[in-house]
Amino acid sequence: MYLLELGGEDDAFAAHEAASAAADVRRIAPGLAVANAIDPARVRGLAYTHRANDLLGRTDASLESARALLETAPIDREGTVAVRATDVHGSTGVSTERAERELGQVLVDRGFGVDLDDPDHLLRATFSAGRLADPGTNAADETGDLLTPADGDEPIGERVSVCALGWLASESVRDFGTRAPTDKPFFQPGSMDPLLARAVTNVAGARPGATILDPMCGTGGVLVEAGLVGADVIGTDAQRKMVGGASENLAHYLDRDEPSPIGVDRGTWQIARGDATRLPLVDDSVDGVVFDAPYGRQSKIATHRLEDLVAGALSETRRVADRAVVVADRSWAGEARAAGWELEAAFERRVHRSLTRYVLVLA
Ligand SMILES: C[S@@+](CC[C@H](N)C(=O)[O-])C[C@H]1O[C@@H](n2cnc3c(N)ncnc32)[C@H](O)[C@@H]1O
Repeated sequence: MYLLELGGEDDAFAAHEAASAAADVRRIAPGLAVANAIDPARVRGLAYTHRANDLLGRTDASLESARALLETAPIDREGTVAVRATDVHGSTGVSTERAERELGQVLVDRGFGVDLDDPDHLLRATFSAGRLADPGTNAADETGDLLTPADGDEPIGERVSVCALGWLASESVRDFGTRAPTDKPFFQPGSMDPLLARAVTNVAGARPGATILDPMCGTGGVLVEAGLVGADVIGTDAQRKMVGGASENLAHYLDRDEPSPIGVDRGTWQIARGDATRLPLVDDSVDGVVFDAPYGRQSKIATHRLEDLVAGALSETRRVADRAVVVADRSWAGEARAAGWELEAAFERRVHRSLTRYVLVLA
């Protein structure tokens, strides 16, 4: 069993992304989930999971209980150790320094040597307390309306108090800051930030050997992240300027011989000018689609009304793939169903006061 340390503000979305790298993911406390198995290489490419730990045991969020757990847990490891503790969102008030010291002492008493700089095994002690958001939160109801508590509401669900101890097994590579949209060779307002782009490509199925399409690729933000986790990528955009700019960005990040930062071969890429409602692709030719629909104010650039553009793109993507993730400024769940998709999940991500992004996972 593994413990996943989630990042970001939306655990349900983080857990959904984590399911692309782990089996049977279940949230157990704010910021924490467990899984039955992990793919360590894929964990390295996750956006909203920081670490996966080989679970030693779990108890309530107090240092006394954590100590008692570590004193008795079976440990079949040899070599040097170090302990790192985290109090998720400062929710438990447990002193992480004291936890590291006292749990380190338990390991010394059990015969381990300590090496704080380069240990053979790193024990993660994670403490978290709060209400576990109901799995239904952020899920879509029958009509496709999103069920989310109003601002200021207490999250629904059980109150939990958890300390989980586990040996670090795999960590995600936190290099997203090096790909801020404004630092890329080609930038346009409206580019997707690389964290969200990585998460949605993972949810769409990006991985070595898979082909991912973004039919409205803009600057190529989504495709860069898919290519860095090893997927071969295809992009189209209605604007000539975007086709040139996305090509520049993809060449910059993907045309390199060395493996990507997560340690896989970078994917190949193709970009063409095209209309998302009439894709130049044969049926079932890609594994997953991701698109970031234009927002109301940007829709003039297309020759379609926004509703027709999104409906047309949804039905074309259904023709070429059986999995898609759509990011937009509103829920297009009704249009997605009309195009033959089923809604696997839906999430709302508040970007700032006047912009909420909707993420629909379609299958
Ligand atoms: C919100 S932007 C995508 C941003 C992109 N995810 C990024 O990171 O840069 C939407 C894109 O849809 C494109 N677009 C609009 N109508 C289109 C159509 N009919 N077919 C293809 N692309 C279209 C626009 O040119 C624009 O680049």
